[in-house]
Amino acid sequence: MPAQVKPFEHSSQSKINFGAQVLDVDIENVTKEDCDLIKDALYKHQVLLFKNQGHVTPKAQYKLTSMFDPESDTYGHGTDVPNSAKSILHPDLKTIPHQPQVQVIGNGFVEDYEGLKNIQLKHPHHRTFHRDPIPLDKDLDYTRFYRWHIDAALYGRNPPKVTTLLAVRVPGGRKQTLLYDDGTGEEMEVPLGTTAFVSGETMYNILSEKDKEFVRTSKIEYAPHPYIWMSKCHALPTGLGLYSEGLELSEDELPPIEKEKIQILPMVWKNPSTGNLSLQVHPAAIRKIHCADGTVIDDLQQVRDIVYKLQRPAISPEYVYPHDWEVGDFVLFHNRGLLHSVVGAFAGDEVRIFRQCNLAASVGVDGPDS
Ligand SMILES: [Fe+2]
Repeated sequence: MPAQVKPFEHSSQSKINFGAQVLDVDIENVTKEDCDLIKDALYKHQVLLFKNQGHVTPKAQYKLTSMFDPESDTYGHGTDVPNSAKSILHPDLKTIPHQPQVQVIGNGFVEDYEGLKNIQLKHPHHRTFHRDPIPLDKDLDYTRFYRWHIDAALYGRNPPKVTTLLAVRVPGGRKQTLLYDDGTGEEMEVPLGTTAFVSGETMYNILSEKDKEFVRTSKIEYAPHPYIWMSKCHALPTGLGLYSEGLELSEDELPPIEKEKIQILPMVWKNPSTGNLSLQVHPAAIRKIHCADGTVIDDLQQVRDIVYKLQRPAISPEYVYPHDWEVGDFVLFHNRGLLHSVVGAFAGDEVRIFRQCNLAASVGVDGPDS
């Protein structure tokens, strides 16, 4: 059977306009025709789901990921960040020894997996990152978006084009209520341990014309060593950026800064296939806004307030796709056209094993005028 692409069917209240399932493809044995179809479908649908791929090897996962950027063979954060004890990403990632571009993430104790022995995985809990977490007695029923982000080092390495995720082991599916806790009263029901996605295109399209022009013509500067810089900071209850409490590490507390590695990126990125524009900003890592007239907004609180107002409308429940993971689900997503967040809280003995792969891109992002 030739491969087929079936767009997700969303409920009538939903405003989600992305996502598709790809049928009749084995990621372990993709053909040239499959590759062409997957590339085309990815840029059109942003999230592609392949069911029953539990047998896929780390090598095949890497090969599919690298199909979008054959010039690159380095993990999106390089090898330094996952292994730097100071980075907030360090506890979440375990590198597969024989395929170092692929990371194991999840929850619980795993004796032996792909050459990794006796590893303790830890699903990120919002308590470790949010300033005002949900009280313990409500923790099993209620949850938050942990951290909205793009998969990107944002210092010295280009943002990956795509990310792949494979669900190897998934604990039994209860539901949780996700609270926004930002005064809007918004909430949504989510599957336990979902990955939530929103569209950067929608985030751009629902802005006023004035804001569209602002984001099209402004650039965002990211902090140097952003995941170390923010390591003491606390997140907003929506997981969409940080409180400004003066907790960012100062330059002398960071590893040496190489000025040429600091990234100043367009706020709006162009889809290389459709030409559609996406508002793509990693809100936790932002430091300054460079405006069209040459002024630079460097008051951190102000920078965060501006970006929050631009992004918040597009994470309302009707725009969020929470993927309900089943064992064997292989998800390929367009990292330059979406934001995503970890969600949920597992008990210590709930074992979950996922594999993640993305590659620091060989080329920079396409801005709105490229
Ligand atoms: Fe991610």
